[in-house]
Amino acid sequence: MDRALADLRNGFLPRFQAASTEQALRDENAKILGKKGELTAILKQLGQAPPEGRKAIGEKVNALKQEVEAGFDKCLNDLRRKQREAELSAPPFDLTLPARMPVTAGHKHPIAMVREDVVAVFRQLGFAVFDGPEIEHEENNFTMLGFPPDHPATDMQDSFWTKSNKLLRTHTSNVQIRAMTSLKPPMAFIAPGTVFRRDDDATHSPMFHQIEAFLIDRNVTLAHLKGVLAEFANRLYGPGTPVRLRPSYFPFVEPGAEVDIGCVFCKQPDGTRAGCSLCKHTGWIEVLGCGMIHPVVLENCGIDPDEWSGFALGMGLERIAMLRYDIPNIKLMFDNDPRFLAQF
Ligand code: DAH
Repeated sequence: MDRALADLRNGFLPRFQAASTEQALRDENAKILGKKGELTAILKQLGQAPPEGRKAIGEKVNALKQEVEAGFDKCLNDLRRKQREAELSAPPFDLTLPARMPVTAGHKHPIAMVREDVVAVFRQLGFAVFDGPEIEHEENNFTMLGFPPDHPATDMQDSFWTKSNKLLRTHTSNVQIRAMTSLKPPMAFIAPGTVFRRDDDATHSPMFHQIEAFLIDRNVTLAHLKGVLAEFANRLYGPGTPVRLRPSYFPFVEPGAEVDIGCVFCKQPDGTRAGCSLCKHTGWIEVLGCGMIHPVVLENCGIDPDEWSGFALGMGLERIAMLRYDIPNIKLMFDNDPRFLAQF
């Protein structure tokens, strides 16, 4: 029994030190101190020892047990410290691991892209930006622009009115009045902005975006307007894009027109248009409204129509974006679904 104890005393520490993991160390400890362990087995034999020697052996066994426990604790601490030091001195992260999430850079919304392109074209042509409010007086949005009080657009059904008798502007044409009443001609401005109408279907949204452009100077004629439109079509849709004006009515212009450009979708290499569903097989696509600023509007703003004349035009950015990117429903541009936005 003494020999067995001596062997164990000499052997346990090297066995513990050889364990390279916590689990291996615990297993080794169990082989000695566990229920079926070597020291436990010696303890069980104590009953067979001569009674006079039992006490001495018992003390030895207990002393060894404490040594083994202390050795186990020390080796466990050593193992844990080594593990922690290894963690701390390892490189903080592995640069070669693949990213967990595909990270893509954000990008501009299709309406913002169209707005920036249109603004850039007019700036190249010498127009400056003039800003106007989205909550507007009835006078600036309607009356001064020559809308009669009973015009359908002024109806409660068509516009969003506030309790204080203002309204959310229904178009960016309000900026014409703001500019003309605060500055003296000549002037050439564009006004990009958000507008609001009680309209809601696949091609209309209660909130949408327009860009207005207007120019006032001496001797401005329809030819100047057409020249600017031709240059606009060239620069936005490509050289040689044809433009045509169809007579139309807007209260603040005379004459007024709607502007079509040659369809950009069915254009053939020889410049002719084959006709397609987007242009309803006409070869033309409507892009904006325009006209010569009505003399009454100039007068309303204190500008002498005998000395000054001007033109104005306005376009919806959603329409231009839908045409450019072949977007079937205006709502897609406001849902902000990343699966839609990621396509641009
Ligand atoms: N304000 C018009 C609208 O919202 C668009 C428009 C038409 C603007 C003719 C103009 C213009 O400046 O001359 O439908």
